[in-house]
Amino acid sequence: MIANALVQAALQARMAAYAPYSSFKVGAALRLRGGGVVTGVNVENASYGLTLCAERNAVAHGVQQGLQPGDIAEVAVVADSAGLCSPCGACRQVLAEFAPPATVVWLHNLRDGQTLKTTVAELLPLAFGAAHLQE
Ligand code: THU
Repeated sequence: MIANALVQAALQARMAAYAPYSSFKVGAALRLRGGGVVTGVNVENASYGLTLCAERNAVAHGVQQGLQPGDIAEVAVVADSAGLCSPCGACRQVLAEFAPPATVVWLHNLRDGQTLKTTVAELLPLAFGAAHLQE
């Protein structure tokens, strides 16, 4: 029984993941500041390097709905892995574009029901961002 509704949304989304090569399905859910939740799943490809991660697909989904920097209020990532599935480096950077540093990130492992509460800043300390591009 999972109490966290955002984790539940990521679990639900994960079922649609397209992962025929790794069999490693990932679901991500983003709660938006204005209300509402967007989800994403990993989408693999026969040309392996073209694989898209669940977190970045969730962000792309959000952008289609008007997501702007600072709009992500909470994140959940779910997988069935040996240990908690932690977002890859590229996904951390993309999440940081739209989520303030203190944004809570839930990592949930389907295998043993373990959940870790962390933040965007913990996942990506000293993040590069738009502020660095200012003249
Ligand atoms: N994957 C994600 O969707 N998110 C991550 O943060 C880590 C990895 C996916 C990519 C690939 O389809 C599978 O997990 C195995 O790497």
